[in-house]
Amino acid sequence: MSSSDLHLWHPFTQEGADPAPLVIRRGQGVFLETQDGRRILDAISSWWVNLHGHSHPAIAAAIAEQSARLEHVLFAGFSHEPAEELASRLGKIVPAPLRHVFFSDDGSTAVEIALKMSVQYWRNSGRPEKCRIVALENAYHGDTAGAMSVSDSSPFTAPFDSLRLPVLRTYSASCAHCPVNLTRATCHIECLEKLERMLAERSHEIAAVIVEPLLQGAGGMIVHPEEFLTGIRRLTAEHDVLLIADEVLTGFGRTGKMFACERAGVVPDFMCVAKGLTGGFLPLAATLTTDRVHDAFTGSDRSRTFFHGHSYTANPIACAAANANLHIFDTEPVFESITAIEKVHAERLPAFAAHPFVEDVRHIGSVAAIELKVPDAGYLSTLRPRLYEFYLNRGVLLRPLGNVVYILPPYVITPRQLGDVYDVIRDSLALLSS
Ligand SMILES: Cc1ncc(COP(=O)(O)O)c(C=O)c1O
Repeated sequence: MSSSDLHLWHPFTQEGADPAPLVIRRGQGVFLETQDGRRILDAISSWWVNLHGHSHPAIAAAIAEQSARLEHVLFAGFSHEPAEELASRLGKIVPAPLRHVFFSDDGSTAVEIALKMSVQYWRNSGRPEKCRIVALENAYHGDTAGAMSVSDSSPFTAPFDSLRLPVLRTYSASCAHCPVNLTRATCHIECLEKLERMLAERSHEIAAVIVEPLLQGAGGMIVHPEEFLTGIRRLTAEHDVLLIADEVLTGFGRTGKMFACERAGVVPDFMCVAKGLTGGFLPLAATLTTDRVHDAFTGSDRSRTFFHGHSYTANPIACAAANANLHIFDTEPVFESITAIEKVHAERLPAFAAHPFVEDVRHIGSVAAIELKVPDAGYLSTLRPRLYEFYLNRGVLLRPLGNVVYILPPYVITPRQLGDVYDVIRDSLALLSS
């Protein structure tokens, strides 16, 4: 590095306390290889994006081929074959009423678009007073201003409270810390009653409810009962409020079905997808919606237009990567691998549940979480950096969310490799007694 080189400012990184970033030179399957030749098992799919392993040759080849043909063209007034193919492929896997797709760049932009579309939908429909959004406790929807507003208050959002839009907040079905002090075995999802009252009293001013369906990710890998999601759908339909399903994390098989909404039999008014859309190769996102929403934007009146877009909307190379990713779902036994992962979670978690330092264990599809008992629970728990370092020293990339250790692996992880990850987590529990 010469003195004229710029300094790299990394995300979610405290330079004054965190170790220096590891330089990675290769990625292959579940492994990352550092500049000095160490292999690290990526047990969190590089921030939940990778599906079929690093550097999957079919996606790499599709990117190379598309780059040599058409790298980019603006998407206003123009279209291209990779985007059209992707729309057709997505149309076959999303709930049937979602007939329209608006592309953007990442999870946060997919969420911003759903929020803006839902508000403008009501304005275009002659009901501009329906402009408020309801979101859940423990929610995380991204880091841009709108996405950060619907995310719950946390150390991530605290410096920006003055920038966050006012949002109505309702309970999350966080069964390990039930917001209404009940137990799942005997409850009737009473945590929904707050939303029920809110919608009964205020639906005239509410545009949409936004949820992470079945699994709240950054809030602590919180798994919701399916009845919670189906209840939200029932209530929003009854009160004529739109439902936004943020499937940025849950999409593309993470919960054991292609989408969490499919698992619960729910059809939302908007679905946001990103992360796994390109198999973890390139940034690309999509916000999908219904005829009802789309048709409120069309007509001869130009003021009804959805005035939103990004320079790289529907980038052809990213679309080609997404098409290759979805082709892998058609041609490789991806869901069998996910079932094998879920089986290991089900086998290994009970021993953790019985451990005196463990507060709760939970899993859904390929994702598992172990919540540890600490005096300073939360993202800034002092245990977290010690765990992170311990795991890296043992050759495993795990980034606990505070005192919640979670596994979210690429689907190509073998049961034996996953067993090794569990062994490392088991050994790390000794840190709680030191
Ligand atoms: C549920 C959910 N929505 C939105 C986002 C934001 O996505 P991105 O980081 O691609 O902007 C994330 C990121 O973790 C997420 O988990």
